[in-house]
Amino acid sequence: MDGVGEAARMVGAVLGGRLRLVRLLGEGGMGAVFEAEDLAGGPRVAVKLLHPELVANEEVRRRFVTEGQLATRLVHPSIVRVFGPSVAEDGTPYLVMELLDGSPLAAYTRSHVAFPPEQAGPIVYAVLQALAEAHRQGVVHRDLKPENVLLARGEGGRFVVKVVDFGLAKVMDAAGGMGSRTRTGALLGTPGYMSPEQVRDAKRVDARSDLWAAGVIFYELLTGRSPFEADNPIAKLTAVLVADAIPIERDAPALERWRGFFERALAREVEARFASADEMAHALVLVARGPTGRPPGVIQTPPPPPAAVQASYAPPAPPPPEVQAPAPVPSTLPAPPPSEALEAHEGPPTVSLLLAALLMVIAAAGGFIAGWLAGRG
Ligand SMILES: Nc1ncnc2c1ncn2[C@@H]1O[C@H](COP(=O)(O)OP(=O)(O)OP(=O)(O)O)[C@@H](O)[C@H]1O
Ligand SMILES: [Mg+2]
Repeated sequence: MDGVGEAARMVGAVLGGRLRLVRLLGEGGMGAVFEAEDLAGGPRVAVKLLHPELVANEEVRRRFVTEGQLATRLVHPSIVRVFGPSVAEDGTPYLVMELLDGSPLAAYTRSHVAFPPEQAGPIVYAVLQALAEAHRQGVVHRDLKPENVLLARGEGGRFVVKVVDFGLAKVMDAAGGMGSRTRTGALLGTPGYMSPEQVRDAKRVDARSDLWAAGVIFYELLTGRSPFEADNPIAKLTAVLVADAIPIERDAPALERWRGFFERALAREVEARFASADEMAHALVLVARGPTGRPPGVIQTPPPPPAAVQASYAPPAPPPPEVQAPAPVPSTLPAPPPSEALEAHEGPPTVSLLLAALLMVIAAAGGFIAGWLAGRG
């Protein structure tokens, strides 16, 4: 699988006499993810196949299977269901997962669109719930980044957040020093999302590094940019060691209320950060609700979308038929993402795909927030 071509050639292969790979969904540092058909008649699944270059390394294979087994214990609505690791006829280990229909959060963060807190908040809240469950079971993600958070369609067309790849960064640790395929990001975590202590020593991270990454993701969703000024991977690694995060309100004074939250979430000293995912989630809810106890900016009666938005999206895409929730329209709809930013993405989501996903998020945000508040209230 040296490049997209080789992974794509796996399409049609049958694993374990039962799972036929029908479509390549994407590739990362560790392997490739396929949609697979169950020849025994079960539902379609996603299969993550370890890269052939890594299969030769016994320690990598062992870790892949061990971490895959641990992941099967993580059963939570915001964690992708892992059914188990398995080994193909040729010795290649693979992971069988619930198949998700959606887009990685990276499709949004790469567009540099700023999302209002009432959209970004529930997404990050769900990520924190996923982390809380994993941390309770002793599993640290270690490579939380927008590529590993999927916005997917759940039952009844509801929008759901799913964190993928729990613990798999350990597999890449085991692959240290192997060939061109093991890029720095895959080995240690991902520059831009790694906490200062993780940059210093990737092996000695704890749950609070995941919280740092969740803070970076939240910051990026709210502002459309990184919390640290750096334009290449090395600068991204060093910036967190020497610089403070850009104050969240610098370009958007309306975000001032979030300043204290991000001072803790992105504190260089690990002791100054939120101590747990639950604590961070609680703080998020308190800020989102504001002094009135209600989340600011949630519009109860949706006004018609602004004319400028309609014009830029003409003809407006119909909402996905599965989405049943009433569509609350945020006070400021984000601008359409620049197409070149999307083209640079591996397996580029088209603007219309992104728009459909965005509509899905907007449409479902009302129901999600209602559930969120009900759950907290
Ligand atoms: N269970 C799933 N259902 C549907 N798509 C998935 C599933 N798991 C992963 N994907 C998609 O497959 C693609 C490849 O995922 P993969 O984890 O291999 O790459 P990555 O996250 O970009 O990099 P990394 O190897 O660092 O995790 C991604 O676009 C991801 O959104
Ligand atoms: Mg991944």
